[in-house]
Amino acid sequence: MADPVNAVGNVFDDLVAARIGRRELLGGSLGAAALGFLNGCGLTPTAQRGPLIGFASIPISRIDTVVVPEGYTWQVVNAWGDPIMVGAPAFEIDASQSAAVQAMQSGMFHDGMHFFPLPRGSSSSTHGLIGINYEYTDDNLLTTDGMANWSAEKVQKSKNAHGLGVYEARLEDGRWRTVADSRFGRRITADTPFRIKGPAAGHPLMQTAEDRNGTRVRGTFQNCANGYTPWGTYLSCEENFTAYFANDSGSIPRLQDRYGVPTTKDGWGFRWHEFDERFNAVKHPNESNRFGWVVEFDPYDPKSEPVKHTAMGRMAHEGAALSVADDGRVVYYMGDDDYRSKFEHIYKFVSKQPYRKGGGAAQNATVLDEGTLYAGRFNADGSGEWIELVQGKNGLTAERGFHSQAEVVIDARTAGDVVGATYMDRPEWLAVHPRSKEVYVTLSNNSSRGKGKPLHQTEPLGADAANPRAPNIMGHIVRWRETGGDPAATTFKWDVFLQAGEPTHKDALKRGNVKGGVAFAQPDGCHIDARGVLWIQTDSSAQSMATADWALLGNNQMVAADPTTGEVRRFLTGPVGCEVTAVQLTPDLRTMFINIQHPGEAPLAHPGRNDPSKPKAISSWPDGEAGGRPRSATIAIRRKDGGIVGT
Ligand code: FEO
Ligand code: CA
Ligand code: CA
Repeated sequence: MADPVNAVGNVFDDLVAARIGRRELLGGSLGAAALGFLNGCGLTPTAQRGPLIGFASIPISRIDTVVVPEGYTWQVVNAWGDPIMVGAPAFEIDASQSAAVQAMQSGMFHDGMHFFPLPRGSSSSTHGLIGINYEYTDDNLLTTDGMANWSAEKVQKSKNAHGLGVYEARLEDGRWRTVADSRFGRRITADTPFRIKGPAAGHPLMQTAEDRNGTRVRGTFQNCANGYTPWGTYLSCEENFTAYFANDSGSIPRLQDRYGVPTTKDGWGFRWHEFDERFNAVKHPNESNRFGWVVEFDPYDPKSEPVKHTAMGRMAHEGAALSVADDGRVVYYMGDDDYRSKFEHIYKFVSKQPYRKGGGAAQNATVLDEGTLYAGRFNADGSGEWIELVQGKNGLTAERGFHSQAEVVIDARTAGDVVGATYMDRPEWLAVHPRSKEVYVTLSNNSSRGKGKPLHQTEPLGADAANPRAPNIMGHIVRWRETGGDPAATTFKWDVFLQAGEPTHKDALKRGNVKGGVAFAQPDGCHIDARGVLWIQTDSSAQSMATADWALLGNNQMVAADPTTGEVRRFLTGPVGCEVTAVQLTPDLRTMFINIQHPGEAPLAHPGRNDPSKPKAISSWPDGEAGGRPRSATIAIRRKDGGIVGT
């Protein structure tokens, strides 16, 4: 089977490599020879003339809808509550449906996603499966009376609105639609069984009353960004999982505390522990160790068993960005965005075995079971190192509490601390350039830099070369290139690609240095498309957006950057109170899918819940007058002339 995900991109890369030589490709952005070749080769996705980014930048917006440049259109493909599998009922706008019905419909807050062409192995741009994360919920909008009269049924509905999904989508007569009764439709919730694989499987720290072997766990939640494999499976990453646990013992154990297990009062108020004892971290101290992993499942097989991969380390996983070494070993770059400490590390995983080219999920079922986990050190001189997190090496010894590799991966954060990895400003999504293999990471913000301390460290941390602003309110993007262009290398060279901000701000620390003067803040989602455009999405909280600093920044947005010139243009603005997240293009680059998450977020402390008696007080996107409440949704963006998005 051809690489099912990037069939077109790989063919293209092979052709270009043959024509201009591999070294030139890896050495930098496309030179004149490559561009000439592109123009002549007639390969649809990449054939282009003119500049990389061809649309005119749009203004900031405060209106309650999506805005795209002249010449583009957008439409909703799939929103919270839409039926996605055989037998699923349509959404009721008063949110009165049961937990059981919710488990057959799209979850509440769309986040990371990946487009998988149908049929499997094809490069269709008109028919496919979307593997998707539903990161969290606003439980005041999830049921008619919200969090009043809290009950086991409400907890179940909340859990069923979290997790993952697969929905089938088709382009017909220029419009995408979700196939409501798809045989591929699937929901994975906070209760779906997973198998635990890798070095932590079976370790005593993974054992609970419900799972005495430490090899099976129910559920996934707080799935933020994502990844995919070359063998056609979906990866999803568990981010702020600890906020759902509660430890009111008065003495939170070290491991729970390093990962942020809070008291009831300090948590995010999801109240699951009141009806599901698993989330009581006093009674079940190991349950939280079973979250914070990268998970995998086969979207083409609705019966496939989802897996948690412990070899890739445990953290508030933001995403898993794929690169592939020449010998076929798979490499994943991963950020750790801790909501509480704000200072965490960037990680890399290199599989031990190469993947089997042409093989599917079954032939590659063990590739992610074993490999080397590294944490990144960004030196002031622009050099960098990947430091192995391997028991017995680099100070990860029994004396420091690491008796086995299981303990290293379960407490990967502390392992990163011990080996001297750099504390980054909330590392979020990562993107790998399809040709240069250069890696970009968004660093969302860090209001604590300059005054706060990383968790369990004694000294406050100020600015450093890779995190140059203290405090860092607006966020920045760092990029690196591995030595020799080899994704498996252990050294790299890095620089700061840009600092986001509001260019006219009176505070120099909030202005940024964006070429073209485009104002945007707190970069989060990102993706580099097959042409090499870096798409950057913002996720400022409604609480931040209500401050004077955001007066000229508007609603959350998406910009496009040229990695070579650094030029930035604004492509999209979202509705009120939303976050803009996830970018996927069809193989022909003529449809772009993105997610609008939590339109109408209230300007309160996270998670910014609404008033259930006035569900449309802040936003009524996308249903407007006809709807009952705002709904997160996937939208499709196309050029009116059917051309390549971004040109
Ligand atoms: Fe889920 Fe760090 O954003
Ligand atoms: Ca996000
Ligand atoms: Ca975020």
